Amino acid sequence: MTSLADRLRDALRARGLDWPAPIEHQVRLGSTSDRLKEKAREGAPEWAAVLADEQTGGRGRQGRAWASPPGGLYLSVLLRPRFAPASLIPLAAGVAVVEALGEHGVTAELKWPNDVLAGGRKLAGILAEASSSSSGLDWVVLGLGVNLVTPPEALPEGLRATVASVLALTGGRLEPAEAAAAVLARLTVWYDALRADPPSVLRAWRARAVPWWGRRVELRSGGLVVRGVAEDVDAAGALLLTLEDGSRRTVLSGEVTAVRLEAKGTDRVGGR
Ligand code: BTN
Repeated sequence: MTSLADRLRDALRARGLDWPAPIEHQVRLGSTSDRLKEKAREGAPEWAAVLADEQTGGRGRQGRAWASPPGGLYLSVLLRPRFAPASLIPLAAGVAVVEALGEHGVTAELKWPNDVLAGGRKLAGILAEASSSSSGLDWVVLGLGVNLVTPPEALPEGLRATVASVLALTGGRLEPAEAAAAVLARLTVWYDALRADPPSVLRAWRARAVPWWGRRVELRSGGLVVRGVAEDVDAAGALLLTLEDGSRRTVLSGEVTAVRLEAKGTDRVGGR
């Protein structure tokens, strides 16, 4: 039987892409991103990728666990950006994931900093982890998890009401190799755009973002709660807020554990 890595290469070739780097597939891994970080340190080339059918220690943002039962897409890809707006990589990846899912009939939206939602439920997540040295940024390991088929009962109880799957949304199965090919193909497009025209990535991200602009949001950052009106994302991908006292605040994605619309309060109408 053809391996999943070969099926992925074939699916990429069918899209006109001869994948330029090794693709490793494992039935079970702790975390595809941890495996790829090892390879990055050993000098793996840009676009090296690792996939697993299942993760036993899948990680999400802010040290959270990422439930990874068989049937989902667990993919990590190595980037070695040599250009300035590396902070926009997670946003570019979000756009790629939404477009890839769109090819398969799923309408998804992006929630800052990098959640992929469908019908308000989490469908996919993106975890960007970077390593720098005195010469600058060495690498970014981009970890992408997409819930393709996972039935709620395979997930921890606390997540069941908040998670979506491609199968539940479309009634159809999307194979991990096909999903990975669609995501990687779109990622190459948006990574190129990041180099050539960073504002185009921001425009694409905004066009797919939940329309929270001008609305009151609540951010949790460690033990702190910050409330304000969401205005926009800036050129570095940080969230711009107007606080209750009228001052402006820029929030970096790494500072935030959770973002939601404020339960009560008056939204400012017509904000951007
Ligand atoms: C999040 O929304 O918190 C990000 C989730 C990222 C999950 C993916 S699955 C593939 C890769 N390996 C991991 O351990 N995490 C990422």
